[in-house]
Amino acid sequence: MKNTILTFAEAKRNGTKLAMLTAYDYTMAKLMDASGVNGILVGDSVGMVSLGYRDTLPVTMDDMVHHTKAVAKDVGNALLVADMPFMSYQTSVRDAIYNAGRLIKEGNAHAVKLEGGRETCPQIRAIVDAYVPVMGHVGMTPQAVNMFGGFKIQGREEASARKIMEDAKAVEDAGAFAVVLECIPAQLAEIITRSLSIPTIGIGAGKSCDGQILVYADMLGMFEELTPKFAKVYADIGGQIRKAFAEYVNEVRRGEFPSPDHAFTLPDDIVKKF
Ligand code: KIV
Repeated sequence: MKNTILTFAEAKRNGTKLAMLTAYDYTMAKLMDASGVNGILVGDSVGMVSLGYRDTLPVTMDDMVHHTKAVAKDVGNALLVADMPFMSYQTSVRDAIYNAGRLIKEGNAHAVKLEGGRETCPQIRAIVDAYVPVMGHVGMTPQAVNMFGGFKIQGREEASARKIMEDAKAVEDAGAFAVVLECIPAQLAEIITRSLSIPTIGIGAGKSCDGQILVYADMLGMFEELTPKFAKVYADIGGQIRKAFAEYVNEVRRGEFPSPDHAFTLPDDIVKKF
C-alpha cells in the first residue's frame, strides 16, 4: 500500500497504529519498505549512526540530500520524510522554504521534518504554504542537546510538560500533518495524543502515541555509543555482523576462503598451454 499524508490522517481517525523507522541508505530502505512500514525517516541521526558524530549538529543539507536520494531510489510503499538539519531552517523562513525544497526536488522526499515548537511555527507554516508536508518534532529535540545539557528526558516538571503540550498544539495549528514526541513521560504523550487531531509518532514516549518510530541501528543492536532505554533490540544484527566479520578474517588467514565454490576455473586444456 502506498502511504501518503492522507494515510496518516486516516490512521488517526481510525485508531490504526502507524509504524516508522529511520533509514540512511538504499539497501536498508529497500528491506524496510518491503516490511510494510508506513513511513521511513531519513533522520539527521545519520550524523551519529553513519557519519560518526557525537550528536546531530554537524549534519549539513548536502549530507541530508545525499542520503535522502539513496533512500528514495526504491521506496514504493512508505511515506518518505527527510529531516531538516541544524541551522537549515532556524536562520530564516526563507532558508527553511529553500532547504525544504531541496529535500523534495533533489532528495525526492515526500515530506520534511523539523524540530521545535512555537519558535519554528513561522517556518512550518511557510513550508506547508509552499506545498511541502511537514512533520513536527517536540519534547527532547536532539538539535537542542546543548540547551538540555545532554540527551535527557523532557517534560517531567509541570512547567516543561505544559510547554511541550503547547508546542505540540502550536505545531498542529501551523499545519503539520504529524508530530514526533521524543523522550517524554508516557502519560504526557497520552494527553497530547488525545488533544491533537494530527497523529503523534512516539519515540521514548510510551504506547499511547498514534504511531512509533525507532532508529534502525538501535533496534538491530548495531549502535553501541548510545543505548536508550526505549530502544527495544528486535534482533542482534550487530552481534551477527561482528561474528561474520571475525569468521571471514579467520577463514582468510587459515586459507579456507575462498573455497572452490567461490572461485572461477579455466578448462584444463587451456591451463596446460601456460
Ligand atoms: O533523526 C532522527 O532519527 C529522528 C528520530 C529519532 C525521530 O529525529
